[in-house]
Amino acid sequence: MVVAIDGPAGAGKSTVARATARALDFTYLDSGAMYRTAALAYLERGGRPAERAAEIEIELGERVLANGRDVTEAIRRPEVSEAASQIAVEKGVRAALVAKQRELLDRGDWVAEGRDIGTVVAPDAALKIFLTASPEARARRRALELGADWRTVLRDQALRDEQDRSREQSPLRAAADAIELDSTDRAVEDVVGQIVALVRDARRGSLPTPAGPG
Ligand code: CDP
Repeated sequence: MVVAIDGPAGAGKSTVARATARALDFTYLDSGAMYRTAALAYLERGGRPAERAAEIEIELGERVLANGRDVTEAIRRPEVSEAASQIAVEKGVRAALVAKQRELLDRGDWVAEGRDIGTVVAPDAALKIFLTASPEARARRRALELGADWRTVLRDQALRDEQDRSREQSPLRAAADAIELDSTDRAVEDVVGQIVALVRDARRGSLPTPAGPG
């Protein structure tokens, strides 16, 4: 089965998705790392982003490998984040990476994280979570990770949010059947515990109707 966790940057997706996968003994898929790896290849080699995305061999795991080269740290640089968000607007880039993602998700149990997992990549996912947090909380978390000033991060984040939400191809939005969770004032373990419980319900085929806002 596939558990989809979508949401904006800094909502805690990676931490929550990784911990949920570990708790359930599912495999974790970081789709953002694919956009980042394609963006790095484009920054380094130029040409057309869609060609870079289609040709690149990406291996995800403890380390991220691009054509066998370890790019785990390189893809987290701020200029790569920005380039990832920019090339992610292109239909050809998305088509190439979505195909790679679907191939992986075809077999086995996964927690897949991204922007469009529940809406485009795996619309039949057994459980869809849309994880959010306040912009300030998200910027502070990301600043801690990067050792950067949170106000600067907040500015970059607002730009990337806007790009991700307003793009024509697979804009960032919650699927109609996604359960929205706000992680602003919640501990990671608490959110993970809730998702694990929801997965167990989904497995029993008794998924509760998502609660409305508030
Ligand atoms: O970690 P963070 O949330 O900052 O970003 P990420 O998940 O690594 O994704 C980097 C960029 O790739 C995002 O800003 C999106 O523009 C793009 N992306 C996407 O378009 N679709 C996905 N499924 C995942 C990432």
